[in-house]
Amino acid sequence: MSMFNLVKVANPEEGAQNLFQLLKKELESDRLHVLGLATGGTMIPVYEKWVESDLDFKNVVTFNLDEYVGIHADSPNSYAYFMNEHLFSKKTFRKIHLLNGMAADLEKECAQYEESLQQYPLDIQLLGVGENGHIAFNEPGTPFDSVTHVAKLTDSTLHVNSRFFDNDEEIPHTAVTMGIASIMQAKKIVLVAFGEKKRAALAKLLEGHVTAEWPITKLLQHKDLTVITDLNFD
Ligand code: F6R
Repeated sequence: MSMFNLVKVANPEEGAQNLFQLLKKELESDRLHVLGLATGGTMIPVYEKWVESDLDFKNVVTFNLDEYVGIHADSPNSYAYFMNEHLFSKKTFRKIHLLNGMAADLEKECAQYEESLQQYPLDIQLLGVGENGHIAFNEPGTPFDSVTHVAKLTDSTLHVNSRFFDNDEEIPHTAVTMGIASIMQAKKIVLVAFGEKKRAALAKLLEGHVTAEWPITKLLQHKDLTVITDLNFD
C-alpha cells in the first residue's frame, strides 16, 4: 500500500484554508520557488484565499497545467483568461508560464514548455482531478512517461466541460497539457477534490492499485503526495 497524506476537510472553504496554510509554510521556509497551477471550479475558492491574503508571490515562477487548443487567451473560455481573472490580475509573480493553445506549431510549443519546466523544476504542483480520473488533460490510457503534449479530450471530459461554454464558441476537442511524467517530476504534489462527483476517482486512489485507466493512480508512486478532500471514505 502506498503512503500519502490524506487531509479530510469539512467543505471546500476549509480545504482552501488548509492548502493556504501549507503554501504559506513552504513560502516562509523558502522552499517554494516554482509552483504548478491548475484551473477549474475546484481552484476558485483556493485562489480566492490567496488573493485576499498578504501572501507574497513576487519570487515565485508559475506553470499552468494545460490549455484548450484553438481558444484565444482573450476568450472567457480559455484557461489563460481563468488564471488572469482569478489570480494573475490580483497577485504579482516573478514569471508566469502558460501554454499557448493558439500556437501555429503546437508540437514546438509543447517541447519549449517542457524545456522551461526543466529549467525551473517544480517545487509544488497543484492538481484537481476529473471525474474519469484525469490529471491535467491526461485522459485515461495516457502513457505514464508522457511529457507536455497535444491531447485529445474524451467524451466524458467534453461533456463535463460543456457547462462552461455558453456562447457560440465550439468546445475544443484538443488541448495542450503537461504530461504525467512532467507532473511526477514535481518535488511535492497537492491534489484537491471536492464533492461526490470526484468519489470514483478518489476511491481508485485509495484502492492503491496503479492503472493507466485511472491516471490519478500514478500519483501513488510519488513520494510526497497530499490529497485534500471533503469526501468521507469510512
Ligand atoms: C485544469 C485541469 C483539470 C481539472 C479537472 C477538474 O487545469 O488540469 O484536470 O483539474 O478537470 O476540474 P474541476 O475543478 O472544474 O472539477
